[in-house]
Amino acid sequence: MTHTPEFTEDQLEAGRLLFAKPWTFVTSVADMRQLPASVGVEITFAGRSNVGKSSLINALTGRKDLARTSNTPGRTQMLNFFAAPETGMTLVDMPGYGYAEAPKSMVDAWTALVFSYLRGRPNLRRVFLLIDSRHGIKQNDLDTMQLLDKAAVVYQVVLTKTDKIKPTQLSALLDATADILRKRPAAFPTIVTTSSEKGHGLDTLRAEIANLLER
Ligand code: GTP
Ligand code: MG
Repeated sequence: MTHTPEFTEDQLEAGRLLFAKPWTFVTSVADMRQLPASVGVEITFAGRSNVGKSSLINALTGRKDLARTSNTPGRTQMLNFFAAPETGMTLVDMPGYGYAEAPKSMVDAWTALVFSYLRGRPNLRRVFLLIDSRHGIKQNDLDTMQLLDKAAVVYQVVLTKTDKIKPTQLSALLDATADILRKRPAAFPTIVTTSSEKGHGLDTLRAEIANLLER
């Protein structure tokens, strides 16, 4: 059974055009009181630390250094907002959760920020919940899903770093992930697979995002 989304040529083209626009950095936010006005369509990239959130934003926009990435988990420490003004869409890069090496006070602060944003952002249209293909869904991902289910915020799983696993492993992981998602009320049924490194799945994810603007 297939779990991945399928798009028409027109939808893929809409995605390509959306991400050919000039995307720029808007602001960084460390505190809920600093959030920019809740206007337009906002989407956000959430997931464990080091899963590849910032890399995916760079790959989608074709901008190498739009979002800062790192080998060291815990690179992104604030909510970073990016926009292409003429599109009415904002992308948000979030700090990762589950980074055990950072001081507890810092981790608690990031987690509180991420969770309060996810719970209470009126124009948040969809959360892309990134899962590292090598690891699959972990307990803290399930915690995030539970929060999103409760807040009725739609989330879609993106399996990242698919260049690191074999096609047979990916296929088994897709089945296992779909099984978990089937039981979750706010989970989007299809799963996107990506490699920011090799460019795999970016056209599909761009189309998925462009589709959100059209509804
Ligand atoms: P935090 O901001 O710390 O939460 O991390 P993040 O989720 O933003 O991850 P980031 O994009 O900084 O990437 C973490 C590491 O994974 C970097 O060394 C990236 O080069 C690597 N990486 C990201 N995407 C891919 C991918 O598709 N394939 C491979 N092989 N490596 C990747
Ligand atoms: Mg990051």
